[in-house]
Amino acid sequence: MSVHKEIKRVTTHVLSEMKLKGEKIAMLTSYDYSMAKLVDQAGIDIILVGDSASNVMAGNETTLPITLDQMIYHGKSVVKAVNRALVVVDMPFGSYQGNSLEALNSAIKIMKVTHADAVKVEGGKEIIESVERILSAGIPVMGHLGLMPQSINKYGTYTVRAKEEVEALKLIDDAKLLEEAGCFAIVLEKIPAELGTKVAQALKIPVIGIGAGGGVDGQVLVIHDMLGITQTFSPRFLRRYLNLADEIKGAVNNYVQDVKSKDFPNEREQY
Ligand code: KIV
Repeated sequence: MSVHKEIKRVTTHVLSEMKLKGEKIAMLTSYDYSMAKLVDQAGIDIILVGDSASNVMAGNETTLPITLDQMIYHGKSVVKAVNRALVVVDMPFGSYQGNSLEALNSAIKIMKVTHADAVKVEGGKEIIESVERILSAGIPVMGHLGLMPQSINKYGTYTVRAKEEVEALKLIDDAKLLEEAGCFAIVLEKIPAELGTKVAQALKIPVIGIGAGGGVDGQVLVIHDMLGITQTFSPRFLRRYLNLADEIKGAVNNYVQDVKSKDFPNEREQY
């Protein structure tokens, strides 16, 4: 039987067992109570309260504007809904890059108020002091390398990362550094599949990909993208499992027609 089916609660230990057994890890984002409840009940292994909330919940162009308090609000709502999945909360831009004490205080606030299981940070060598300081407080940390949306202003584009050897070698070094520091897993975003496989094979900890190919230990997608709620975002790595945008617009349109035509409410729908 798979680790996934046997366990009642996903822990960082369960995730490393999955990697050992070659069982892929399924991760999705959620930002609110109702969606997180459904995602958890459907058997997801990890729920990421991603700072992509800045885009899909708040309508910002980048992930940079979302604040620590806003991430805590989303994290708290998600944790209340979840019984089985491991919940990871993204540390937002500006809450951990400045200095390691600030990073520690931000991570402690997230853990204390949301009751999440872990935090996620973007970067390697540049933020390793912050990663170590957070880990020293007993807070599990997930790394994030490759395309790092919080650094969009440095690169100016969301294209595939680490195609050149220098950047690929730095990514491998950073991944090893994060593992040595004690991270329990790493997300790799939008990099060549070959590099994703190489990193997953080089590390003992699980490597979860988003646009990093099938050779990594698990996959993550933004829930609004995979359900087809977002309509214009269509990168090659995205598989849409529903076209919820059309479903929702159709239902709302039917409701509007019913109200206007006085069909709703009918006799049975009133007191
Ligand atoms: O914020 C987010 O949703 C993420 C995923 C894309 C991995 O970091």
